[in-house]
Amino acid sequence: MKSILILHGPNLNLLGRREPEVYGDWALDDINAELVSVGQDLGVQVRCFQSNSEGELIDALHEAREWAAGVVFNPGAYTHTSVALRDAISAIEIPVVEVHLSNVYAREEFRHKSLLAPVCLGKITGFGWRSYVLGLQALAGD
Ligand code: DQA
Repeated sequence: MKSILILHGPNLNLLGRREPEVYGDWALDDINAELVSVGQDLGVQVRCFQSNSEGELIDALHEAREWAAGVVFNPGAYTHTSVALRDAISAIEIPVVEVHLSNVYAREEFRHKSLLAPVCLGKITGFGWRSYVLGLQALAGD
């Protein structure tokens, strides 16, 4: 069975309480439970991890290389700043889908730039928690 890592970056532990008008009212645990359930329907095993630390996210990407067929990654604000995460995605050679709850292109200009998108398989932005589901569906195929 295919295994997929769902990786959440900084501040996403606060989902549900953090700017719900922007990010929705689902808590991170709700999103993770939904993804495990969607994964069962798709026949893939889903593992979820969140960290506020860039280094821990890099470690999770490195480890995913050993066991995951792909990664659905919401890098939060590191999307716009992190050369180190970009290099990690390039290094692991498994597909990574960049996802965002909000539509980053409808927001401040600094959110329009992603350092990670060029090394990702694709990017999904603006569909709330469903952005993760779409990313998972994209990776669950052949
Ligand atoms: C986000 C968008 C980022 O710009 C922001 O820094 C986040 C969340 C999103 O899911 O919409 O933390 O990745």
